[in-house]
Amino acid sequence: MVDITEIESRLGINIKAAILEPIQHPVLEERGIELHIKRDDLLHPVISGNKWRKLKYTLLSAMNNNHQHLISMGGTYSNHLHALAYVGNKLNIKTTGLIRGEPPEKENQTLTDLGKWGMTLEFVSRSAFRELRKHRTHNAKLEKQYGGFWIPEGGATQDALRGVGEILDEINIDFDTLTLGCGTGTTLAGLAKVLPDKKRVLGFSSLKGGGFLEKDVKKLIKKNSLTNWSINFDYHFGGFAKISEELISFINEFQTHTNIPLEPIYNGKMLFGLFDLVKNDRFKKGHKLIAIHTGGLQGNRQ
Ligand SMILES: Cc1ncc(COP(=O)(O)O)c(C=O)c1O
Repeated sequence: MVDITEIESRLGINIKAAILEPIQHPVLEERGIELHIKRDDLLHPVISGNKWRKLKYTLLSAMNNNHQHLISMGGTYSNHLHALAYVGNKLNIKTTGLIRGEPPEKENQTLTDLGKWGMTLEFVSRSAFRELRKHRTHNAKLEKQYGGFWIPEGGATQDALRGVGEILDEINIDFDTLTLGCGTGTTLAGLAKVLPDKKRVLGFSSLKGGGFLEKDVKKLIKKNSLTNWSINFDYHFGGFAKISEELISFINEFQTHTNIPLEPIYNGKMLFGLFDLVKNDRFKKGHKLIAIHTGGLQGNRQ
């Protein structure tokens, strides 16, 4: 049996680095709101944030079943594939990434890293990619073809929920609401499942028209009666990976003020949304927020 603590130490995962950082900011102080940021971006220089949380037990399960090859999918800037390729390289496990669309004219640094870490890259048409998305647990055809283990887009497995839930074990201060950016909703689902009574988790969708996201979260949670979570769809800035000058200036101002770097795809949008809700008095005086920094800073490179 594989010992996950040993794997974490081989990979250099540093849970202690993922501190809870108190944020001082006039917007918060004027309204009496407390905010801490859970610095999961500091877990590891490459497999940062929710990437390791989500991969951890999926990887363990693959290794315990003697799989020598992991197959997954993502976009050309995928943080998930980036983390998977790194893990495969360090642990000597073969990896294949199915990438959406045509190879870009100029390779970006995410793709360069994937290649450097030995991931086999296959570009698939957008329609084929949409089909692949339907394989939420197994992909029998690909698993047979490659003799490997299928990990769905964004690492959205049941095992991922367990890893994500562990974030809560590291929160040793009182809070009312956890907040985070959402793509597949897996991180939100994992937290909703383990939250104590009277605490809530609020996700901010990075995708436009992500109505399916709520359905996906319900499927992951497998419990319709759970009402301790919600997703805000007002701060996607036009859709996934769409940005605006307003968003970038918020990110720059936030970074100057706190020294905490953000990327514009998930954490930038989430904190922009959160500050906007605070400014609009959507939280009562004294409300205690913990925003989870889910990493992804590698995507800031071109
Ligand atoms: C940096 C970052 N934050 C947040 C998310 C969204 O996580 P989830 O897909 O679990 O909703 C992702 C995607 O996995 C991500 O790369």
